[in-house]
Amino acid sequence: MTDHQLKELLDQMTLEEKTGQLVQLATPFFEGASDRGQITGPMQDMGISDEDIKKAGSVLGASGASEIKNIQKKHLENHRLSIPLLIMSDIVHGFKTIFPVPLAIGCSWDVELAEQSSAIAAKEAAVSGVHVSFAPMVDLSRDPRWGRVMESTGEDPFLNSTFARAFVRGFQGNLESDNYKVAACVKHFAAYGAPEGGRDYNTVDMSEWMLRESYLPAYKAALDEGCEMVMTAFNILNGIPSTGNKALMRDLLREEWGFDGVLISDWGAVKELLPHGVAANEKEAAEQALKAGVDIEMMTSCYVNHISELIEEGKLTEDLVDEAVLRILTLKKKLGLFENPYRDADEEAEKEFILSAEHRAAARNLASKSIVLLKNEDVLPLKKEKIALIGPFSNSTDILGPWSWAGAPEDTITLDQGMKNHVTEDQLLISNGCEIETGTEEQLQEAVEKAKQADTIVLAIGEHSDMSGEAGSRAEITIPKVQVDLLKKIKALGKPVVAVLFNGRPLDVKEIIENADAVVEAWYPGTEGGNALADILFGEVNPSAKLSMSFPYSIGQVPVYYNNYNTGRPKDAPDAQVRYVSQYLDNPNEALFPFGYGLSYSNFEYSEPVLSSETITKEEPLRVRLNVKNTSDTAGEETVQLYVRDLVGQVVRPLKELKDFKKIYLEARETRQIEFTISEEQLRYHHADMEYKSDAGEFEVFVGGNSRDVQSKKFNLSD
Ligand code: BGC
Repeated sequence: MTDHQLKELLDQMTLEEKTGQLVQLATPFFEGASDRGQITGPMQDMGISDEDIKKAGSVLGASGASEIKNIQKKHLENHRLSIPLLIMSDIVHGFKTIFPVPLAIGCSWDVELAEQSSAIAAKEAAVSGVHVSFAPMVDLSRDPRWGRVMESTGEDPFLNSTFARAFVRGFQGNLESDNYKVAACVKHFAAYGAPEGGRDYNTVDMSEWMLRESYLPAYKAALDEGCEMVMTAFNILNGIPSTGNKALMRDLLREEWGFDGVLISDWGAVKELLPHGVAANEKEAAEQALKAGVDIEMMTSCYVNHISELIEEGKLTEDLVDEAVLRILTLKKKLGLFENPYRDADEEAEKEFILSAEHRAAARNLASKSIVLLKNEDVLPLKKEKIALIGPFSNSTDILGPWSWAGAPEDTITLDQGMKNHVTEDQLLISNGCEIETGTEEQLQEAVEKAKQADTIVLAIGEHSDMSGEAGSRAEITIPKVQVDLLKKIKALGKPVVAVLFNGRPLDVKEIIENADAVVEAWYPGTEGGNALADILFGEVNPSAKLSMSFPYSIGQVPVYYNNYNTGRPKDAPDAQVRYVSQYLDNPNEALFPFGYGLSYSNFEYSEPVLSSETITKEEPLRVRLNVKNTSDTAGEETVQLYVRDLVGQVVRPLKELKDFKKIYLEARETRQIEFTISEEQLRYHHADMEYKSDAGEFEVFVGGNSRDVQSKKFNLSD
């Protein structure tokens, strides 16, 4: 189909057919769906008629080639112009082969594996009939109370942007010519990751400067990579709900950034303009959202029920509707749906690709590279002696994490299964000890008895996956008390204890660190999680992950992040007073484990960085050289990180900003020379008038294995 034919198609459409394209409904609404019995409660009250459903433009949440083909077939039969449906789903960290949660993928600092993970997710989803994935989620977050931190790659704009690009490449490839690709939809625009108090859906109030400096870059990076769609956010931004925010979507996204793809509301967010208190009724909500630039309304019926009336009253023009429809039809055309409305949906390919050995191997590999070693007092790797595996996550399949709705427990490798591949049955004693939030004396006693018989104890503890994810905010971000008590009881036996943590956010882990000899942050490692963890615990894989989000020292410290600003009274200034400085009286200022932190079974030693020159110019970049030596007898991977500080800016500059990193593999005792370059472009930032440029003057460059333990040198940027 040509662009001209697309316009002709638009000309043939009635206004009702056009508004139909702007509606997205969940699978059960559609003829051909395998379970149509799920339209209950709010879904039933949507005020959608059978005629509206026949004209709808897209489906949410369908999966499975056979079901999707049925829905599409029936729809094409019912639609006067045979316009195919777009099928969209949340394919966030894998489809059926589940990869670690994105926050864990962020900790891998492995951009290629991240891309591979979304390419595999795309392949499994595409053969199951999906056309669009509601991912990547790139909301920068500094507050681990927010349950959705597990969905993004963390707290750093540069790292998040790098991963955003990788995920988009993996999902989309060349959408028009490659097989097994899906369109990506970056979300949630904008700044959804900064809700006050970490409470989901809550107020976001942020200066334009902060927005542009930290929160917008990852969305922009996804779009620069060609991401086809954008989803709005639930939150208000500076007083205006994102979903009705014209300045955000028409002015910034469309005009300034030139985005001409499809913009979709988040679930029900158009109608949420009512409880937000900026629209008196659904008609006003429709007017605001469409004027603000929302093309597709997800799961409410404000557009379908009110657009024609708004046009009749002269409040909206049909041109605005045409523009939105054309964007949606253009995406359908790009996906080739007019020629082949089923695209890659194929039952045979589903059997061949889904959960294939290749996909499982990739999931295992990425999981093992996402697991962060936080502490190790000579306990790990485990020796093949008698091990007691204790705790509610010992044999739990709840290790896929939120947003893994297509992943099945029966396909999941649990920790005990993984460990059994390394030791004999009688070397491994298993006991839950308690549940996630409750426990009995009998459970505890049984665990203690088993632990007594073992040489080393592995304690698998954490948060239930419902304790993070959407609507999963927590105010007390600790491991539930019953599990901490279990750890203390086990620790009292005086044997080496390894705590393995399963959770969707950085937690306050002080008590865990105090009571365990080794601590392994497993996150939610996915389908192959048990194997990946066992690989790490037994030393088949040397841990290499580094935190992509700081672990707070305490909850009262939140938000705590590495790239913060100085105050006028820094605590560590040479002339700092004892009291009148920026500090807590009862807590350190710093995170317990900073951004970029993670241990290995190897030891790496960094030489001082050497700069190619003291002064760089706009034309001549700076080269930073250093040697990294593996001083141990174990080969391993290290992520060498480069940070910069602009010492005097027109506006305040972060104490450190990640500018580059290199992941290297070093044989035992090997030394490698690393070279980074820093160009003038990397030193640019938003000034008070939002101009993006660099300032001549003095800078400091830092290199190291995490954001805290670094060596530095100063250099100048000349005019
Ligand atoms: C979430 C989105 C998701 C959508 C569709 C919403 O509740 O905020 O991230 O894509 O549901 O499932």
